[in-house]
Amino acid sequence: MLDIRDKVVYQIYPRSFQDSDGDGIGDLRGILRRLDYLRTLGADYLWLTPFFPSPQRDNGYDVADYRSVDPRFGTMADLEELISEAGKRNMGIMLDMVFNHTSTEHEWFQKALSGNQDYQDYYIFREGEPDKLPTNWASKFGGPAWEYVPGLSKWYLHLFDVTQADLNWENPAVREELKDILRFWKEKGIRGFRFDVVNLISKPERFEDDFEGDGRRFYTDGPHVHEFLQEMVRDAGIEDMVTVGEMSSTSIENCIRYSNPAEKELAMVFSFHHLKVDYRDGKKWELMDADIPALKQLFADWQLGMQEGGGWNALFYNNHDQPRVVSRFGDDKKYWKESAKMLAASIHFMRGTPYVYQGEEIGMTNAGYQAIEEYSDVESLNYYGILRREGKSEQEALHIIGERSRDNGRTPMQWTAGAYAGFSEVEPWLSIPENHRCINAELEQQDEDSIWHFYRRLIALRKERKVIAEGKIEFMERENPDVLSYRRWNEQEELAVLCNFRGKHAGLLGKSPADYEREGWQKLIGNYDGSEERLRPFEVLVYTRAKRTKQ
Ligand code: GLC
Repeated sequence: MLDIRDKVVYQIYPRSFQDSDGDGIGDLRGILRRLDYLRTLGADYLWLTPFFPSPQRDNGYDVADYRSVDPRFGTMADLEELISEAGKRNMGIMLDMVFNHTSTEHEWFQKALSGNQDYQDYYIFREGEPDKLPTNWASKFGGPAWEYVPGLSKWYLHLFDVTQADLNWENPAVREELKDILRFWKEKGIRGFRFDVVNLISKPERFEDDFEGDGRRFYTDGPHVHEFLQEMVRDAGIEDMVTVGEMSSTSIENCIRYSNPAEKELAMVFSFHHLKVDYRDGKKWELMDADIPALKQLFADWQLGMQEGGGWNALFYNNHDQPRVVSRFGDDKKYWKESAKMLAASIHFMRGTPYVYQGEEIGMTNAGYQAIEEYSDVESLNYYGILRREGKSEQEALHIIGERSRDNGRTPMQWTAGAYAGFSEVEPWLSIPENHRCINAELEQQDEDSIWHFYRRLIALRKERKVIAEGKIEFMERENPDVLSYRRWNEQEELAVLCNFRGKHAGLLGKSPADYEREGWQKLIGNYDGSEERLRPFEVLVYTRAKRTKQ
């Protein structure tokens, strides 16, 4: 079986990575141009978010054809070249499979709309009256989760945008179609898949109103989800590929099943609980400072729970749906470099496979937009309207969107200090933050002490030290409100990781840096010179020593 424990995945949002044809939108040939950069950093796999033909209502997560390349992003020949050139550099390409829903422009949905019963059965249609929603469920992008089609006198379910119709996985014909798509890409030389919101695919037998929430408890980790995944992985023959499922509002128990090799489902899972510690009462659009003790607790619960149950985590803070972590849990001004490094190390030494999202390795920050016109994301624009209708002032609404918008993670990659940050020769589809003059890949690569070099070192360490990939984990400093600390060990080596999550000095409840040093531990990596008795603002210290005592 494929071992993913010492691998690192780099996530590319093609639209914002590198433009090669001067239309302000990144493309596949742009990625080709940057392969050496990615190889130097040390990535093993490149996960590309969707570049399939799509009306782009949700930037490609509304797929209209799963087997071709949208001309905006290039051609099939470009993709084949990318697969082969990446392969020469020992990197595999992973594709993003959006199988919970299709775009309403997909031919299956179009056939359904034109009255074809077989294709209506590909989706979740319900007979009904235009003034009576089948259930009170909410779309994750705001508003109801059902849309009425007057011509058919039927409603269809859309957990996301109204142009993203949920597929009916209960229908075996749908499952066969999806397996065929995987076989198609496997034959092309694709090495792995990321499955979009894949724990939402199994809907309940009966659809009923949710009087406690937005409906998610009925379809999250739904009744047949494990069966469906096993069947898909087996029949499509993708057991030995890198697979990762995006799991929305999931549980540790389910994630163990999704990712324990014995279950033959997926290689690993993304879960999001740790990225809600700054949501007030779990609400994304209500701001709160990050609750660090809660973050620590979640890391401990997930790391220990998954270890115990033989599951495997994808380790990440950033992706195309998240604000930039350095602006969120770090300090993107005074301690920009220190906090970006500390945050990186805080997860790279955990048990799991790390994901680096484009720009994270150079410390890219939130967008800092001042006007709603600068945003593009469908969710941000919908919620701006909702916040305003709820009575928030323009300024308040903009402040909230500024913190939470997915566009924060989607601004073009900052390659240079020059025009359009070296991303494009023309005005890009989404504005580039002013700070590209001092935060860019060129400067970062030149400076030995940069965030970029730190990431490169973290990735190299995972390959040099088996303990990072294979070791056990336990948590220390559990009662410390400021410091996340854990220990990793295998037969040969032990590591101790100390991370100060605050922009001020923090004391240790247990061993201090001086104690570690007295006991003969060596510093493996850190973000300050030397060490002090307490941890300095956003300091990370990682110590190593040969394993002595038996566990
Ligand atoms: C996932 C994607 C996100 C998309 C949504 C619907 O959460 O990461 O970008 O909007 O699914 O496909």
